[in-house]
Amino acid sequence: MSYSDLLASKTEETLSIVSSFLPKEEGYQKTVLEAMNYSFQAGGKRLRPLIMLETYRLFGGKGKVIEPFMAALEMIHNYSLVHDDLPEMDNDLLRRGKPTTHAVYGPGMAVLAGDGLLNYAFETAISAFDVAEEEERLWCIEALKILSKKAGIYGMIGGQTLDVEADEKELALSEEAIDFINAHKTAALLEAAFMIGGILAGAKSEEVQILETIGYDLGIAFQLQDDLLDVESTTEELGKPVGSDERNGKRTYLALKGKEETDKRQKALSKEAAEYMKSLYAKMGKEDLFLVSLIQELVMRRK
Ligand code: IPE
Ligand code: IPE
Ligand code: MG
Ligand code: MG
Ligand code: MG
Repeated sequence: MSYSDLLASKTEETLSIVSSFLPKEEGYQKTVLEAMNYSFQAGGKRLRPLIMLETYRLFGGKGKVIEPFMAALEMIHNYSLVHDDLPEMDNDLLRRGKPTTHAVYGPGMAVLAGDGLLNYAFETAISAFDVAEEEERLWCIEALKILSKKAGIYGMIGGQTLDVEADEKELALSEEAIDFINAHKTAALLEAAFMIGGILAGAKSEEVQILETIGYDLGIAFQLQDDLLDVESTTEELGKPVGSDERNGKRTYLALKGKEETDKRQKALSKEAAEYMKSLYAKMGKEDLFLVSLIQELVMRRK
């Protein structure tokens, strides 16, 4: 099977797993449940749960304990986007080719839908204990620690904080500050995807550390490509408004260093991540190298 066929079939499998955890749209709170499911089902690459599942399998994981964590991470990712698009943040009206959650349900309901997704993510992740085997219970606790930290003030929220504050106060940002933003707003959730996949399959702590580095490298490279696409792509192809960063006066790495430097850094990071991943495949005696291809392809992605 070609890489793109493999990616399509793995994405479909991932989508069917994560979708099975969505709440039923019923009761007096039905509207917020609809808004949550709207944002979740609007599309997207499903990259984080896909990476989690593949990493779990790379380390020999075979059970169901990974599934609630896959759904939880995708919920957190989707909540971060619902809030990121709000008028008070990036003020964007299009996401994955569809009107953003606040454009459909209004900003109040979009705030609640984001809050709902975040809280439900943890309700879902904790349900892993219902299916965990005895030896997996400690791994679940470790996975919860990583999930909560990488989503929080020392993770994604931390990065979004400086991103938003720099906009509002028109701060000039150093390269180091921009790296802080990208490492936290974007890389943190990718780190969580790789790490939790490894942890729940019983990976050793030095292996989990390598997974964190892979997530960091890939995450920075991923955000650099996101920033490039904001300039180079079309709204039609990207499914979200191009020129959003310029409109918001975002201090991106691209704005600070220019295209050539951004391309160079992105390729170097992606190469490093791919090398580390190759070494893990070799260690596990596995030859399909799917995650190596995924890392390599993501630098060239068009959406
Ligand atoms: C978008 O993430 C936000 C960033 C961290 C750049 P993705 O590009 O993974 O978004 P979807 O889920 O595929 O739409
Ligand atoms: C957002 O970065 C990262 C998040 C944590 C949501 P961007 O603001 O660049 O993401 P897009 O371009 O809106 O997807
Ligand atoms: Mg943003
Ligand atoms: Mg945005
Ligand atoms: Mg962007």
